[in-house]
Amino acid sequence: MKKAHYTGLIDRYRDVLPLAADCRVISLCEGDTPLIECHNIKQANERDIKLFLKFEGLNPTGSFKDRGMTVAVTQAVTEGSQAIICASTGNTSASAAAYAARAGIKAFVLIPDGKIAMGKLAQAMMHGASIIQIRGNFDDGMRLVKEVANEAPVNIVNSINPYRLQGQKTAAYEIAEALGQSPDFHCIPVGNAGNISAHWTGYAELAASSGKHVTKACGFCNGDCQFTGKSSISNRPKMLGYQAAGAAPFIKGSMIDNPDTVATAIRIGHPQSWDLAQAAVKESGGWFNSFTDEEILATQKLLATKEGVFCEPASATSVTGALHDMEVGNIQNGSTVVCTVTGHGLKDPDIAIKQSATEMLTIDAELDSVKRAILNNI
Ligand code: F0G
Repeated sequence: MKKAHYTGLIDRYRDVLPLAADCRVISLCEGDTPLIECHNIKQANERDIKLFLKFEGLNPTGSFKDRGMTVAVTQAVTEGSQAIICASTGNTSASAAAYAARAGIKAFVLIPDGKIAMGKLAQAMMHGASIIQIRGNFDDGMRLVKEVANEAPVNIVNSINPYRLQGQKTAAYEIAEALGQSPDFHCIPVGNAGNISAHWTGYAELAASSGKHVTKACGFCNGDCQFTGKSSISNRPKMLGYQAAGAAPFIKGSMIDNPDTVATAIRIGHPQSWDLAQAAVKESGGWFNSFTDEEILATQKLLATKEGVFCEPASATSVTGALHDMEVGNIQNGSTVVCTVTGHGLKDPDIAIKQSATEMLTIDAELDSVKRAILNNI
């Protein structure tokens, strides 16, 4: 049946998702996020590199987590779950809370006390999740969630839940559909390492189905829109996983116990999808790298001031890495590069205001003062 409008990624990608045909879909119309081509980034322009931002901050709760959550919560409801649980650095908790509200079930979220961004906390609270702050970090929360799920009737919706990764792979499908092929390089921030793994699954599936029609017709066109049957590709990107220097177990080559970074979303020392992420990078011919908080914040500012894209600090890590790898020649001139911009800047207003160099003027409410303020700053 034709739909009047876009109804979310399960409806669009159902034939590549492991869900029962008659399941009750829990969706907030997530996915279908814009792929924004950068115009004003000199490192790309000087090298004839096409640089795209896949702006996942424009999902319903402001991060890529919604892609995984719609599938994980739909499956949880299909299985009869009355409650879901997650550990989170913030975005997963916001998304779990929203989708649980939509489904009419309970969400329990374990968050590191004092270490999640205000916007994310506000979301979890507002959607009615039971918020459990722990005196510990994300990795402690993850351990506790796994333990408690053995003893209480709760369904884990962290990315160790395979339905999460299935949902998140759809971002790779959208990118391939938009570009008509995969990019040469896909740059992505790495924390718990689920998203890099999910993207690789998506690209690998598309390449394996080469020549075949993969996604179904979108359901609301005559079979000629961008969503229809275009998503098989012959190439796969190199996957580049970037971390914050203070939380970079993949660079160290082993887990770390006290991760720290201003990019609280990726303040993780014991990534759960370690093996999958290592395989994604290795099979694709990519690499990991890490960057300081100062470099990450500078990129966050650059994207906001030069491209009009406001993302949270963790999200800027992908672009920080891309710019670095362009400068040192690891990303060749003429390449096509996609950076996942994982979460919206409004998630973390404190950091944005703290680091903003814009001086706020306070003046008298009279024409002369306003005029002077403009002429002095033009
Ligand atoms: N960027 C943002 C904004 C995130 O919230 C996360 C993860 C990542 C990147 C890293 O993705 O874990 O798949 O490697 N946030 C999780 C959370 C851990 O709890 O919200 P990953």
